[in-house]
Amino acid sequence: MTVLGIETSCDECAAAVVRDGDKILSNIVATQIPFHAQWNGVVPELASRKHIEWIYTVTKEAMDKANLNVNDINAVAVTSQPGLFGSLLVGLCFAKAFAWSRNIPYIAVDHMLAHLYAPRLITDSTNERPNYPFLGLLVSGGHTIICRADDFDDITVMGTTIDDAVGEAFDKVAKYYNFGYPGGAVIDKMARAGNSGAFRFPMPSLHKGDHRYDVSYSGLKNAVINQLDIFKKEQVFTNEDIAASFQKTAVEILLRALLNAAEDTGLTTIVAGGGVAANSYLRARLAAQPNLRCIFPPLNLCGDNAAMIAGIGYHYLKRGEKSPLNLIASSRVSGFKKKYP
Ligand code: KG4
Ligand code: ZN
Repeated sequence: MTVLGIETSCDECAAAVVRDGDKILSNIVATQIPFHAQWNGVVPELASRKHIEWIYTVTKEAMDKANLNVNDINAVAVTSQPGLFGSLLVGLCFAKAFAWSRNIPYIAVDHMLAHLYAPRLITDSTNERPNYPFLGLLVSGGHTIICRADDFDDITVMGTTIDDAVGEAFDKVAKYYNFGYPGGAVIDKMARAGNSGAFRFPMPSLHKGDHRYDVSYSGLKNAVINQLDIFKKEQVFTNEDIAASFQKTAVEILLRALLNAAEDTGLTTIVAGGGVAANSYLRARLAAQPNLRCIFPPLNLCGDNAAMIAGIGYHYLKRGEKSPLNLIASSRVSGFKKKYP
């Protein structure tokens, strides 16, 4: 089955063609970063306007690259949640119109589940693809989720952030210090030239009881932005030192919760997804964990893309599921709420 995937939940306008859930025939991502950079963050109205301008061309390019035409597409998969409402609507309406006009099914999928599916795509003949069950680490600009995954759509949330997402902390720190945009990638790069011991930032006290797998980033963000002087260990420091010390603590917070979850579940395979999964320090620290197998998607599948949407969409379609034409987008994530005992 050849599925066209559409993804417009934030600032990437993306279309891809994937066969049978894992063979990527094309994967086009048109980034809006240059248009939002001057504001140091995504401007929702601007994002949806750009999606409207670009979605047709991006989809056409995905089909051309796959050497296919509309008659070859058997179904459409599209992100319907979570994300910026106006941006989601562009992709969702485009996907509905495409499917309706071709008389083929379409399926609306969850963006976060798709991020966790990304490592199941075939990217070269040797890439390691995880089998279920595994422990999922979903880290993006809006979410931080530690979960047990028993299937592509069977997720048990073990821990989440109780305030800010990890990606948001990267973005806000970079914005405050004018490091550049987008914040996560910039801090990752700067940190390589910095001393991660220049500051000792506090860790949240969240590792006990019901919060054993939860994380928190508002304290760290506040410490880096408002209380730098209190935590400095070196008298002379650079912006790179701030970036490295912040990044080290941000990753430490994730690792503590994740390793607790691994220990308690006995799961030894960890699969990371979402934009922050591109972070080189996080990748290195996880790769160095003894007794754990950590699988990351390749860098081009960590951030938002439509191949992961078409890939996961195939599995719903194979079960005979399809979405109704009156389905609406949702800015919020659903099914990812942690149940406290
Ligand atoms: O998954 P994603 O592309 O979009 C959302 O669904 O949110 O994630 C975007 C987030 C942003 O917060 C961005 O700063 C962060 O991923 N990010 C990184 C890196 N690359 C992107 N964070 C840390 N290190 C990176 N290399
Ligand atoms: Zn994303």
